[in-house]
Amino acid sequence: PLAVVALVSGSGSNLQALIDAQEQGAPFQIRAVISNEPGAFGLERARRHGLPAEILNHRDYPDRASFDAALSALIDGYDPGLVVLAGFMRILTPAFVEHYPGRMLNIHPSLLPKYQGLHTHQRALDAGEVEHGASVHFVTAELDGGPVILQARVPVLPGDDAGTLAARVLKQEHVIYPTVVRWFAEGRLRLSQDGRPVLDGGVLAEPRR
Ligand code: GAR
Repeated sequence: PLAVVALVSGSGSNLQALIDAQEQGAPFQIRAVISNEPGAFGLERARRHGLPAEILNHRDYPDRASFDAALSALIDGYDPGLVVLAGFMRILTPAFVEHYPGRMLNIHPSLLPKYQGLHTHQRALDAGEVEHGASVHFVTAELDGGPVILQARVPVLPGDDAGTLAARVLKQEHVIYPTVVRWFAEGRLRLSQDGRPVLDGGVLAEPRR
């Protein structure tokens, strides 16, 4: 199976979806879960499933470059074929990202390229969107700007607030992230030389703007 290292900062519900897929026979093995937040519940989820849970507190490092150097050393000790960001809330340096070309995925709670960055649900509501969602993408040096692989769409409903909308989106995240990691583990998904995601035996929709 494909060796995976997952990075989390919080609840880790997307991590849980990946763990569940793995336990149901998906062809990947999460070798370790790493969090920059010592109290992240994602670490507890890892421990409950017998997975190594590592803390690398960014507050212990003087700058982004030194944190990222320590982070890639820790990751590389597990020799993963894929790094997945699962609610990892630190901006990564280009040097770090370029160390994992075509081998790092992120899930972002918006229909990219819309609403890069934070507070995506509130921003979608404020803009009067009737549709919102989540995107899985390859990570490149451009924050939330890497090539989109798969998106899930949900309606924005009357009476929604950021919480109800986030919950509706999160439910779909738990479907699309394991799907994409499975494709990658099956050797069907790659980032082409010209920076496009390619799925063997399937068609990836262009993100709609
Ligand atoms: C998810 O909604 C994920 O898309 C988002 O954080 C949440 C983590 O939830 N990620 C980002 O905002 C990345 N900038 P989880 O810890 O329960 O998986």
